[in-house]
Amino acid sequence: MQTVTPKPAVLLTRRIPSDVLARLESACNVDLYDGAAAIPREELLARVAGKQAMLCLLTDTVDRQILAAGPDLRIVANIAVGYDNVDVAAARERGVVVTNTPDVLTEATAELAWALILAVTRRVAEGDRLVRRGGWRGWALDFMLGTELRGKQLGVIGLGRIGAAVASRAPAFGMSVACHSLDAPPARTGGAPAPVAMSLDQLLASSDVVSLHVPLTSATRHLIDRRALARMKRSAYLVNTARGPIVDEEALAWALREGLIAGAALDVYEREPAVHPDLFPLENVVLVPHLGSATTETRTAMADLAVRNVLSVLAGGAPLTPVP
Ligand code: DGY
Repeated sequence: MQTVTPKPAVLLTRRIPSDVLARLESACNVDLYDGAAAIPREELLARVAGKQAMLCLLTDTVDRQILAAGPDLRIVANIAVGYDNVDVAAARERGVVVTNTPDVLTEATAELAWALILAVTRRVAEGDRLVRRGGWRGWALDFMLGTELRGKQLGVIGLGRIGAAVASRAPAFGMSVACHSLDAPPARTGGAPAPVAMSLDQLLASSDVVSLHVPLTSATRHLIDRRALARMKRSAYLVNTARGPIVDEEALAWALREGLIAGAALDVYEREPAVHPDLFPLENVVLVPHLGSATTETRTAMADLAVRNVLSVLAGGAPLTPVP
């Protein structure tokens, strides 16, 4: 009699595009949490038991307790490039591979960073709100003036893949680029001139737009605090498409209110989906709901990469994109 090897059991904490899901299902028994919001912790604890792989999102905290509840886990495939939601050290101790989704979301996230730079410097969201509430009284020479980018300096903090992709677009807007890298050697910025490396304080004091692209670690939590904001030019803008806790949101609201900086644009927040209430009344801040990688193409590619990581590891192969 022929013995049939059972398919490995896999937990998927959120629905992914159907063709990618079908590929996972053809090789694995998939337990899909199909709720409207992130999987509740109790549910995650219960459903990880007996699973050999888990595909999760940045909204799922995968800590020691979750890993202990899934003693058969061989891989945690995070469908995100950032992996601050996963206790990587605890996973390593248990021999669990952790993977993320680098590269496939670089261009989409860089595009969103530029969308925010343009939105905040040209007051796009503020203008939209004004028109919708019927507050527009007509064209005037001095009405709703913004700031031009040509001739200005873009300060990129964290020149990894996404920071480099943001920097490489700066010449199209006539901007020069300064950069500050916390540890990793600067990534290439395509054919664009090499950014000028600066200390953090130098970059903050001289840049007209500061864009954040560092991962969230204990060293970068509240990297942008009152002190850092006070160093920026009064005419400067801050853009965050990296991770919310890199910016002290309360300090940012204070700096925006007091006119210490001209404006800010945020895609990410300290306690998502909550946003610091002091930011809501301010016209000089653009707030979008963590959309960095949110294009159909990129989200599909992210899910696909996570699935390929899982299939490779479960087949006894190497992960494609293990976290460093
Ligand atoms: C990531 O992948 O880390 C992004 O924040 C998702 O949009």
